[in-house]
Amino acid sequence: DAPEDLKPRAPIVTVMGHVDHGKTSLLDYIRQENVIAGESGGITQHIGAYGVTLEDGQKITFLDTPGHEAFTAMRARGAQVTDIAIIVVAADDDIMPQTKEAISHAQAANVPIIFAINKIDRPTANPDKIKEGLASMNLLVEDWGGKIQSHDISAKTGQGINELLEKVLLEAELLELKANPDRLATGTVVEAFLDKGRGYVSTILVQTGTLKIGDYVLAGTCSGKVKAMQDERGKNIKKAGPATPISILGLDGAPQAGDRFNVLDDEREAKQIATKR
Ligand code: GTP
Ligand code: NA
Ligand code: MG
Repeated sequence: DAPEDLKPRAPIVTVMGHVDHGKTSLLDYIRQENVIAGESGGITQHIGAYGVTLEDGQKITFLDTPGHEAFTAMRARGAQVTDIAIIVVAADDDIMPQTKEAISHAQAANVPIIFAINKIDRPTANPDKIKEGLASMNLLVEDWGGKIQSHDISAKTGQGINELLEKVLLEAELLELKANPDRLATGTVVEAFLDKGRGYVSTILVQTGTLKIGDYVLAGTCSGKVKAMQDERGKNIKKAGPATPISILGLDGAPQAGDRFNVLDDEREAKQIATKR
């Protein structure tokens, strides 16, 4: 892409952290929706991908992960989708094994970390203990004189969440994220499954270009013409530009999380490449 073709795009932010520390609750608060209520046992089973438009019109794309496994699986397949990692740590708990793993994954991927010290509404919350724990791991947050951003929040009351989002946007600004919307789409598969009524449903993240209904998509060993596209709220849409998470119908199978996808000029070419893989 020529530099003049690149347009600013929304940051893609992955929310990671130990089980039950409040990742989905945080995103629920931001979206003003209630996803955890619909989860079996309140455990996230799959990756949720959401685009959020803030009051001032700025956009952030969030990926909610069950623990860190999906992130690991995507990284293992060479996928680099995240610009920023929010690591949620419950202030009434400790820095847990999955917190440490999330930190290692973000560091290995060279992705800036913002800590969200959550559940500060709880009487037993002790955010300082968490920050001390982080310091002992050589992770100095701003309050402790370091450079890593962190914010105390409650996903229940909403306290601190606006400030956390401001920190996300600040970090994103430094990254000067850009993509060319005026080309055939490429991106990464977030997850895919077979739906009894609709066939294969693939959640994908468009990273560059614009995906349109009727495009021939090649994703891993699967291919097909995009029959329908929906945003994360199930609304039918006709096209999706950079940093947009969407579900598509029309692939002949379920590609794997982390598979790259791209759009080819014609269907025959897409099928030929897919069969050779
Ligand atoms: P997994 O997806 O299973 O890893 O969990 P998660 O990190 O998404 O946590 P989830 O949002 O499911 O929250 C776990 C529990 O903590 C739920 O019962 C939430 O209601 C509760 N919870 C989350 N955030 C807060 C908070 O800020 N304050 C309080 N009091 N409870 C919270
Ligand atoms: Na949970
Ligand atoms: Mg969850």
